[in-house]
Parts: sequence; structure tokens; C-alpha cells
Amino acid sequence: MGINFISWILLLHLLVILLFSHGDQARELVETEDKSLKIQHKHHHNHMNHNIDPSLMVFFTLKDLKVGKIMQIYFPKRDPSTSPKLWPKEEAESLPFSSNQLSYLLKFFSFSRGSPQGIAMESTLKECESKPIKGEVKFCATSLESMLEFTQNILGSESDIQVYATLHQTKSSVTFQNYTIVEIMMEIRAPKMVACHTVPYPYAVFYCHSQESENRVYKVLLGGENGDKVEAMVVCHLDTSQWAPSHVSFQVLGVTPGSSSVCHFFPADNYIWVPKVKSQGSSSM
Ligand SMILES: *[C@@H]1O[C@H](CO)[C@@H](O)[C@H](O)[C@H]1NC(C)=O
Repeated sequence: MGINFISWILLLHLLVILLFSHGDQARELVETEDKSLKIQHKHHHNHMNHNIDPSLMVFFTLKDLKVGKIMQIYFPKRDPSTSPKLWPKEEAESLPFSSNQLSYLLKFFSFSRGSPQGIAMESTLKECESKPIKGEVKFCATSLESMLEFTQNILGSESDIQVYATLHQTKSSVTFQNYTIVEIMMEIRAPKMVACHTVPYPYAVFYCHSQESENRVYKVLLGGENGDKVEAMVVCHLDTSQWAPSHVSFQVLGVTPGSSSVCHFFPADNYIWVPKVKSQGSSSM
């Protein structure tokens, strides 16, 4: 368990940005060059001071979502043998999941408080306990079952919802490279959706959140320079008028809230849940 968690962390390259992109918070998971893991939880007032290389951020606008467009994209490598394991619901729920139980949890997983793993656990717990932003519903799911329950509460019964994730068609050896959009495979207009992102923890935990606003979900086929093929999920937020002006995506794109859509890719093992709808092909674009 401990070993898996460590190697999973080390798999993240120089800089990983896990984007929880709504409202006035962007939460960035940053691994520094010395391989120590820091989780920076940035509120809008310190956003301007961030020193992250913007070229590593995969933000773009809807008008860039077209066949032939080339983008450099970072896809964290996913290795099932070293990723945190999913726990059955009963097992996960037999353990506390709370920052006030941190001492107990660190002892349980044999991590010391100051270790990268200990710091990551604490940050994840704090992140999960933070208040959602206005209009947002959030939940950290410690099992697949609880992720599904949360999603159903928002979107409806199991038969009415659909889940999508980025799929690597080829076994990738490169995590950061130029990709060309080869095909827009699918488009879903989704006023309601739930996005679930994996967060660092000794077992699989998903940070799920939902905000009702105009979103579009796309599946695009990407071709990497090295021949990699990725069926990548993209979410475009059409209404950004409520986002903080200092949101990191506006800085990257050089736009202001409400003036532009903001799109981003989803790494593998993140999930996008939407109500079942008729998907539309690229002809509708
Ligand atoms: C992507 O292509 C551009 C232009 O050729 C190049 O400057 C850049 O270094 C490439 N990025 C990666 C990650 O290979």
C-alpha cells in the first residue's frame, strides 16, 4: 500500500495541475523538482502570485476545438499497478475520512506527518472538507459506490446517466507532447454534469463536484507526435461570468470572465457524468 502510493506520486511529473476549475478557486497539485509533493490551495487573492509555467496548463477556448488544431497537452501517466486501489464501500467507510482523525490515519497507513504522503493526505482531507463555492455541490467519494450515489442524487437514476473518461488507445511512454485534434468524436450539451477527479490518497478517492451552468462535453481523438492515440474528454464552460477575474485560466488565455468559454482536458481516471442524451457528431459544430 505505502509503496504503491509513493510510486504513484512519483509518476506525476514536474508539474501536475489538477483543475477544479469553477468559481474563485483553482486547486493545483504541484510536484516540485525535488519530487516532494506540495498541494497548493490557492484562493483568488493569491492567484496572481502563482509561478506556474502557463504552457503546462491545458486551457483553451471553444474556437480552438477544431480538427487540425495542435496543442501541447500533459497527460499524467496512469499505471493501474501503481495507482491507488479502489476500496469496497464497506472497507472505505470503516475508516474515518476526516482531518481531525489525521493522526490516526497517518499511523494506520504508516506515514509520518511531514512526509510527502502525509502532507498529501492532509491536503486532500482539507480539500474535501472545504466549503463549496456558490452554486456548487461537492463531495469526496471514497468508493465507486459512493461516487455513483452522489452522482445519482444530482443527475437521476442509474439508467439515466452516462459516464465518460479519457481513454489512451496506445500505451503511452510520453506524458507531455504536442497532440493534433484528429476528430471531434462526440459532443454533448450538458447543463447538468458531475466531474470527478482523482485526488492523492492511499486508496482511490474522487473529488466530485457539480455546478449547474452551460457546459459542453466533448470526446476528441488526439494524435500525439509519437503516434499515441488518445480519446480525450474535454469540458467547455460556456458561462464564465461568475468566475473570479483572477482565475488561472483567464491569465493563461488572456480573457476576462464572461467574455470567453474555457475548455480543458480531463486526464484518464477522472470521470464525467452526464444525463443520458442524444450525442451529436462533429457535423453540428
Ligand atoms: C510543440 O511544438 C512546438 C512548435 O513546433 C514546439 O516549440 C514545442 O516545443 C512542442 N512541444 C512539445 C512538448 O514537444
